[in-house]
Amino acid sequence: MPKIAVLPGDGIGQEIVPEALKVLKAVTADSPVSFEYQEYWVGGTAIDKTGKALPDETLKGCKEADAILLGAVGGPKWDHLPASERPETASLLSIRKELEFYANIRPVKMSASLIDSSTLKKEVVEKVDLIVIRELTGGLYFGKKGRTEEPLSAYDVMTYSAPEIERIVRLAFQTAQQRRKKLCSVDKANVLETSRVWREITNKIAKEFPDVELTHMYVDNAAMQLVRNPAQFDVIVTENMFGDILTDLASMLGGSIGMLSSASMNGKKGMYEPAHGSAPDIAGKNLANPLATILSAALMLRLTFGLEKEAQKIETAVIKVLDQGYRTADLARSGDKVLGTREMGDAVVAALEK
Ligand code: NAD
Ligand code: IPM
Ligand code: MN
Repeated sequence: MPKIAVLPGDGIGQEIVPEALKVLKAVTADSPVSFEYQEYWVGGTAIDKTGKALPDETLKGCKEADAILLGAVGGPKWDHLPASERPETASLLSIRKELEFYANIRPVKMSASLIDSSTLKKEVVEKVDLIVIRELTGGLYFGKKGRTEEPLSAYDVMTYSAPEIERIVRLAFQTAQQRRKKLCSVDKANVLETSRVWREITNKIAKEFPDVELTHMYVDNAAMQLVRNPAQFDVIVTENMFGDILTDLASMLGGSIGMLSSASMNGKKGMYEPAHGSAPDIAGKNLANPLATILSAALMLRLTFGLEKEAQKIETAVIKVLDQGYRTADLARSGDKVLGTREMGDAVVAALEK
């Protein structure tokens, strides 16, 4: 039986993951597939229980599983810890590195019924349908870092090797090939050597994909273009930190950070997690939007298990619920039917086609 490691983590992670599980169980109830779910501690919650953000048992469970469903990690309670012990580095980044989840896929699509919930104008967001492919195991996050004294100074080194760039760029070309055949590679090649190498390699790989139109854009311009005219983008590929920043920005093109799903992949194996964090400001209040996590579960069914029909059932149910005017607080405007986290999960389950 395929195994799913379930890691709710911290803050709203504890609230949104149960909703995604509810939907996963409902959508597979009448199908021949069934999963073995095993829950593990991770992040600050794991520090409190075991003293370690990534207990050995959790890492082992992640390695043995076919897929991982993660909520979020981190929060003010653990911010004082030394960098290497903090939930973000010690658990999330460690899992990504240990399992070599080098490709982070973040799809941003505006649902017709959310257009009026957007903070941007209708004509800007109505045709948004893009995917950001973010390199996830290289760059500044994993380079050498440290401090020197007198005067105090600090450094974070950014390195990219050709094979690291090649594999993510090739995946991005393949993704574009299956879509509108447009790939925009985002870098800072006017300043950074890593970006210049990134660009050279991307141009080289482009020869394997003559049917895909490749453009290059500097990251500062890309941030501006994503707000000015986001519909120009089909697939964006970029390095780790640029991708982190641009995807939070891009999440608002789909209405809310609470809508942005994500898949961190190595081949078919993946960790599925919303793009947002543990949202300490709303944690424990049944206010969080669980849809990014529910949509991440749909990505899991599609990308790891090849269950396209079930994945689409979830995505269709989410659209239906939004069409019915149901909103969590992050998306709500006056006149909307405002639901809590649990109630939104229930609404998606109720909207699943039999
Ligand atoms: P955040 O994404 O947690 O929250 C930013 C803002 O968005 C907050 O106002 C929050 O209430 C809101 N928000 C986020 N998700 C929401 C949802 N599902 N529904 C409604 N509103 C939502 O970012 P932050 O505040 O910068 O970080 C908080 C903690 O989360 C930090 O410790 C950070 O390191 C961690 N973090 C973890 C992950 C992860 O585990 N993948 C990702 C990002 C941040
Ligand atoms: C994300 C998060 C993480 C990242 C943090 C928590 C380490 O912001 O998944 O986008 O920067 O990758
Ligand atoms: Mn982020």
